[in-house]
Amino acid sequence: MGKDVIVACDFASKEDVFAFLDKFQEEKPFVKIGMELYYAEGPEIVREIKRRGHKIFLDLKLHDIPNTVKKSMKVLSTLGVDITNLHAAGTTRMMEAALEGLTRPDGTRPLLIAVTQLTSTDQESLEKDLWIEKPMEQVVMHYASNAAKAGLDGVVCSPLEAQAVHNTCGEKFLTITPGVRFADGDIGDQKRVMTPAQAKEIGSDYIVVGRPITAAEDPVAAYKRCVAEFVG
Ligand code: C5P
Repeated sequence: MGKDVIVACDFASKEDVFAFLDKFQEEKPFVKIGMELYYAEGPEIVREIKRRGHKIFLDLKLHDIPNTVKKSMKVLSTLGVDITNLHAAGTTRMMEAALEGLTRPDGTRPLLIAVTQLTSTDQESLEKDLWIEKPMEQVVMHYASNAAKAGLDGVVCSPLEAQAVHNTCGEKFLTITPGVRFADGDIGDQKRVMTPAQAKEIGSDYIVVGRPITAAEDPVAAYKRCVAEFVG
């Protein structure tokens, strides 16, 4: 899979997500399904969106003992998603177990991506709540290299970290970057943002874009603009 724009479908119900996807007639955007929609509608929502011909990033961020994650990934592998993810904080052993569970009998599997540290965690909470005393950037790079060693395909990271992740884990290790905004758009609650064109320049492999597309007056035009800037 090459560079692509992944649309974060952060909707609360299937009615809302289909009202959004119905606007797309020619394009079939790669969509991200998160916890809210998955927990509201269950696995059938994944099957339905897949049947409509979309690629899917199932963003459930698994984090549990290796055996439980392995068995859960085995279930998720039957849904036919293209990308799924977990927390690198679950340890290298958990990531290896996840890969085993995700691999189908025919040897194929969805791409598996790690979350390093959530962007909502800052240096202060890293130290005070988690008792991790290293600088955030070092923690992120360490978790990314654990993910690479475990055999995962990439990490979710800030566009500002994408280059460093490629330097540490290799050019082929995928960087999926949220926090993307158009140059003339609203930043909202995101703090460190980049435009799609900048994300392309610094080597992001996939950008995850939510509100700049889902809340746009013309979502299809916003999606096309994003693809034109990022994929070219
Ligand atoms: O609407 P917006 O473009 O900010 O949406 C970004 C999407 O990426 C949301 O689904 C959000 O949960 C997700 N995300 C993020 N920052 C991270 C990880 C995921 O914004 N570090």
